[in-house]
Amino acid sequence: MKVNSTAVLGLQWGDEGKGKVIDCLSENCDAVVRFGGGSNAGHTIVVGGEKFILRLLPSGVLHPGKLCLIGPGVACDPDVLQSEMNDLQERGISVSGRVFVDFGAHLVLALHKARDSFEETARGNHAIDTTRRGIGPSYADRVSRIGIRVSDLFYPELLKVKASNLLKMHKFCSRGEAGEIVDEAGRFFEELTSYRKFFESLADDISPRIMKLIADGKRVLFEGAQGSLLDVDYGTYPYTTSSHTTVGGIFTGLGIPPKYLGDVIGVVKSYMTRVGFGPFPTEMSGKQGDRLRERGYEFGSVTGRPRRIGWLDLVSLKRMIDLNGVSRLAITKLDVLDGMNEILVCEAYELNGKKQESLPPNHPDFSNVKPVYTRLNGWEGGVSGVKREANLPVQAHAYLDFIEKKTGIPIGLVSTGFGRDDTIFMK
Ligand code: IMP
Repeated sequence: MKVNSTAVLGLQWGDEGKGKVIDCLSENCDAVVRFGGGSNAGHTIVVGGEKFILRLLPSGVLHPGKLCLIGPGVACDPDVLQSEMNDLQERGISVSGRVFVDFGAHLVLALHKARDSFEETARGNHAIDTTRRGIGPSYADRVSRIGIRVSDLFYPELLKVKASNLLKMHKFCSRGEAGEIVDEAGRFFEELTSYRKFFESLADDISPRIMKLIADGKRVLFEGAQGSLLDVDYGTYPYTTSSHTTVGGIFTGLGIPPKYLGDVIGVVKSYMTRVGFGPFPTEMSGKQGDRLRERGYEFGSVTGRPRRIGWLDLVSLKRMIDLNGVSRLAITKLDVLDGMNEILVCEAYELNGKKQESLPPNHPDFSNVKPVYTRLNGWEGGVSGVKREANLPVQAHAYLDFIEKKTGIPIGLVSTGFGRDDTIFMK
């Protein structure tokens, strides 16, 4: 079987610019698939000067006619999905008949959002600074086996029992503090029932569909959400999201075996950002960080929070490349570094006076490492909007060569601006 599928995964703490990369690659694809995360994602795409922010719909949806699938590994907030689909329809992008959600996807409900805020408050000094979209609590209900799935909506009697159990659990765990919604079983059941109609035309069995598409030679893109360093097991736990954002999430989140995956593209921002709390060895403070934040519009697309800014960290990058089996890199936001006199890249860490080139195995150590930097020259002029490799300034080329050499992975694509056309496909 010739496999024409590609995964696009973020290799940092999310917001690497995956949305734009997926949008660019979608043109030559038949289907784009989300396998994990939920509406905590915010993929920003600019088409013809018009800005779109997608939270649940796969980024390929902006290309007419492309099939968009949402797998069982996704935490699906029906309100967000509904408003996203309505918004696109209103803006002239037809979504009907080409968006499908797996029967097994768990719902994110109002009580999960209330609970997310409640848990953050309860964590006190150890808060994660979640997006408060109810993602963690919905995944928690999934593994506690009390979650409500799309399929449950079609079985009213079962739904009633599950709804009442879920309420009982939430009420017990949060002692009523998760909001009045917990006290109103009738209203809760009504809320759930109201989603049935919406899902009637969307609910589907996604795994066989994907396997058939790939076996028939169709091109399928697996769209990652968040970044590898936010993976619940392999990220900077507990300052992570609640799902598997790394390559394994594709198989468990879609119900397909590894033989259906071809290429893995790792998306890397040319500097780093992080929203929320947790360790960030290369974080920069002061004017330089502020400048990059402004130039890169580094404010959360879901919550508007200012993102923390840092230099590229090759130590964590190399680990995430290995972990995901990355075959090509996509470097994004190179234009944001225009005007920098020098560019720092972290090549090793110093921990307790000793230099090390690998990621420390546990989180407390990761908070204490000091970056060891290599300094590269910035470039004259700018790369903003450059569309051909030959037109890149020498120093920008040197920066990309440095990343390729140090990681051993070829760069296939470089993004030099927000627009679809501000992209270089490297030779
Ligand atoms: P949660 O996923 O809302 O539970 O948030 C957990 C952590 O992951 C927080 O630090 C969030 O800021 C971060 N996070 C979740 N989704 C994204 C994303 O799409 N981009 C960047 N950070 C994210």
